[in-house]
Amino acid sequence: MKAVTWQGKRDMRVEEVPDPVISEPTDAIIKVTSTGLCGSDLHLYEVLSPFMTPGDIVGHEPMGVVEEVGAGVTDLKVGDRVVVPFNVSCGSCWMCDQQLYSQCETTQNHEFRTGASFFGYSKLYGQVPGGQAELLRVPFADFLPIKVPQGPPDERFLYLSDVLPTAWQAVEYAAVPKDGTLLVVGLGPIGDMSARIALHQGLRVLGVDLVPERLARAQSRGVEVIDVNAVEDVGDAVRDRTGGRGADSVIDAVGLEAHGSSSAKAAQTLVGLLPDKIAEPMMEKAGVDRLAALNSSIDAVRRGGTLSIVGVYGGMADPIPMLTLFDKQIQIRQGQANVKKWTDDLMPLVTDDSDPLGVEQFATHRVPLEEAPRAYQQFQSKDDGVFKVVFKP
Ligand SMILES: NC(=O)c1ccc[n+]([C@@H]2O[C@H](COP(=O)([O-])OP(=O)(O)OC[C@H]3O[C@@H](n4cnc5c(N)ncnc54)[C@H](O)[C@@H]3O)[C@@H](O)[C@H]2O)c1
Ligand SMILES: [Zn+2]
Ligand SMILES: [Zn+2]
Repeated sequence: MKAVTWQGKRDMRVEEVPDPVISEPTDAIIKVTSTGLCGSDLHLYEVLSPFMTPGDIVGHEPMGVVEEVGAGVTDLKVGDRVVVPFNVSCGSCWMCDQQLYSQCETTQNHEFRTGASFFGYSKLYGQVPGGQAELLRVPFADFLPIKVPQGPPDERFLYLSDVLPTAWQAVEYAAVPKDGTLLVVGLGPIGDMSARIALHQGLRVLGVDLVPERLARAQSRGVEVIDVNAVEDVGDAVRDRTGGRGADSVIDAVGLEAHGSSSAKAAQTLVGLLPDKIAEPMMEKAGVDRLAALNSSIDAVRRGGTLSIVGVYGGMADPIPMLTLFDKQIQIRQGQANVKKWTDDLMPLVTDDSDPLGVEQFATHRVPLEEAPRAYQQFQSKDDGVFKVVFKP
């Protein structure tokens, strides 16, 4: 089959690789019909390179049709239409019982002290072959895949794999008070969808980014936007719009590669240039994040407010403003999305004919798998209005 493989820093290639096979009786094989490209994939593209191995199959936002099931699979049938969550979670351990699916104890990665495995997401998360491929092996087939109805286009359901539950959890964790104001920092797919969900819930939403098309896109749906490059200070701009106090809740939807953190960027680049044997422990023990977005978020939230961090951070040596966090009495909630926890909240919205979250038109680019190398490059540089890419294998 064809698959998108990581071959080196900023070097994704579509290669012919062996088809996946059923290796546990509880596995299924899915023929992938649509599969998303995510901001999280961009971390693998560059910063997390030390944890990648040439040939790794990437991608964690797939959906498709069941092609084969193992002997132990009872509920899932060949021909079922499914979305595959990015968490590889078993559905029966203690963490899964708490619906903390991104912490699944059956697939946790003790070597790196990380939580549940993810599809296509480096050694840190289990080195599980990913979903930007023609076929995908899905473990725990009676629990993990989300069955969806036949009929509507893929993109009605595709984002149940990551974007929708991640954005939903970000808004939940933000705990915006009734009639309160939510600030979303970063208007990529995750921030944009978080803003849509919050608007749908009737909240006032402010949004910050620096890419003109992304600001315009959010504004057209009712977000009050702030262009990082047009204001002297993001925190002041937010306070000006919120009676001087700041936003009740803030979602940081940017993460470790924030624009505007030059010394940390230099450190990340340096680690990326070292041989893997040295780079991997460097990233693990001394890695730093680019904290511009997190610092804006901490500054812009009001005293006693809530900070919901959905952008991925990974550095172990970050200088974060502990004094301010503590003094402002900020509550922080964060983590990888517990994808399946939110399916029941989201399913009515994606099956609603009026498409309240605009999922059908959410992607800007639908391309064959072969175009992955260019799509990664454009998504990283944010050129040509590339916002969300869906591959059609
Ligand atoms: N927690 C989870 O489960 C989960 C799931 C999916 C994605 N993510 C993470 O969410 C983040 C966003 O993902 P995405 O797909 O939207 O990616 P993206 O890279 O397209 O979006 C990031 C946006 O932030 C903007 N930005 C950069 N620096 C900024 C700054 N200093 N201030 C304001 N805006 C800034 C960029 O212009 C871009 O629009 C990534 O870190 C991704 O890894 C987390
Ligand atoms: Zn994703
Ligand atoms: Zn589990």
